[in-house]
Amino acid sequence: MGGDLIITGGMPLNGTVHIPAAKNSVLPLLAAALLCNGTVRFLQVPHLADVDTSVELLQGAGCTARWQGSDITVQGVPSTCRLAPEAAARMRASILFCAPLLARLGRVETVLPGGCRIGARPVDLHLSGLAQMGVHCREEGARLILTAPAGLHGADITLGFPSVGATETLLLAAAAAQGETVLRGAAREPEISDLAAFLNRCGGCVQGEGRRMLYSCSFAPMADRIVASTLACACAAAGGRVELTGCRPETYAPLLEILAQMGCRVETGPESAVITRLGALHGAGRVFTGVYPALATDAAPLLAAAMLAADSASSIEDVVFERRFGCAEGFAAFGAAVQVQGRTLDIRPVRQLQGACARAADLRGGAALVVAALAARGRSRITDTGYIDRGYAGFAQMLAELGAQIEREMPRESASEKKTPSKKQN
Ligand code: UD1
Repeated sequence: MGGDLIITGGMPLNGTVHIPAAKNSVLPLLAAALLCNGTVRFLQVPHLADVDTSVELLQGAGCTARWQGSDITVQGVPSTCRLAPEAAARMRASILFCAPLLARLGRVETVLPGGCRIGARPVDLHLSGLAQMGVHCREEGARLILTAPAGLHGADITLGFPSVGATETLLLAAAAAQGETVLRGAAREPEISDLAAFLNRCGGCVQGEGRRMLYSCSFAPMADRIVASTLACACAAAGGRVELTGCRPETYAPLLEILAQMGCRVETGPESAVITRLGALHGAGRVFTGVYPALATDAAPLLAAAMLAADSASSIEDVVFERRFGCAEGFAAFGAAVQVQGRTLDIRPVRQLQGACARAADLRGGAALVVAALAARGRSRITDTGYIDRGYAGFAQMLAELGAQIEREMPRESASEKKTPSKKQN
């Protein structure tokens, strides 16, 4: 997609949005399809740059993976153990495709997913867990070569930190390993439960040529709690009344609680939330992110964007990533009084945010700039929107349907060309 987003702020948001499936669920699920015999169908998948990259990785490994309307079908029989290096380097979640390929072929060659502007993101926990399950790991510069000469075997593994990705890698490996695996200190994010539900749905494990394989099935991935959080924050920042359907509010409960403390009315049902902001928005004091069920790190910049519109101070600390608030520079361009101190963003109230030109520095930070622009007076331009396309399908249209004045302006020389997806990490 790409192009700039042009936003005229100050319009309240009103309406209902059905929350699409979660990127962070779809990516590990596409990797898990490699473990299945037969065709797997994922229902209602959002068209995101990272999903296209995952399809590219599957196809590069020799699998049949394709869009059928808004579903994706995968026939996960890989013929090569090499992950397409350019696609693998583009997306950190490419590491999730390693365990299933090891299970299928006993070997995988990939490249280390690079660093990212939100801080260092090593894969040591993935690799040390796999090593305990019989995998030999070799790094040659940026290349990573993993082999499992005697197949994968179960192990008793303790994670030093509840890494989401490492938990997913080890779940995928455990599903295909001989014997039982116990994973201690595992992440408990809802997307992990979704992956476990998929693995269970695939009928448990059957013995096949020394490795266990799963059956195929159709599966609807869970709703995207970060997209829901984004729209809730947009409503808090711009005012109005927004109903979010199809997403369980308990998956983003801390965010809703903080918005309620800030003066929004929040009403929840089993699969819906209604956020209303009519009057002033107040600061939230000090808040922190954490691993689930605490406030999600991915929601931090979005909540910060809503805090910019409050009449008293807030500060927000992200304990998961080192540089979560790369969006602070963009916030300052809107006239916000913000300061980053280590992992904390301090926000002091200002009378009114003003429209500005700001550059997306990462996925959630980019979306946060859009939220800030919705609350600002006048016209804003958000550039480097390739980041935003990685996690939001039809973001501008979704907001426009709520009454926002937002449009995408394609660069003149390439408006008619198909753009290659952003090569930046998240
Ligand atoms: C996933 C999400 C991302 C979210 C993050 C935390 C996907 C595709 N992405 O990323 O949106 O922000 O969870 O909720 O699901 N770490 C290590 N060694 C490792 C692995 C991780 O030190 O081997 C560290 C990282 O540097 C980071 C922290 O652990 O500081 C959290 O990372 P992790 O939970 O693994 O996040 P991801 O799976 O990369």
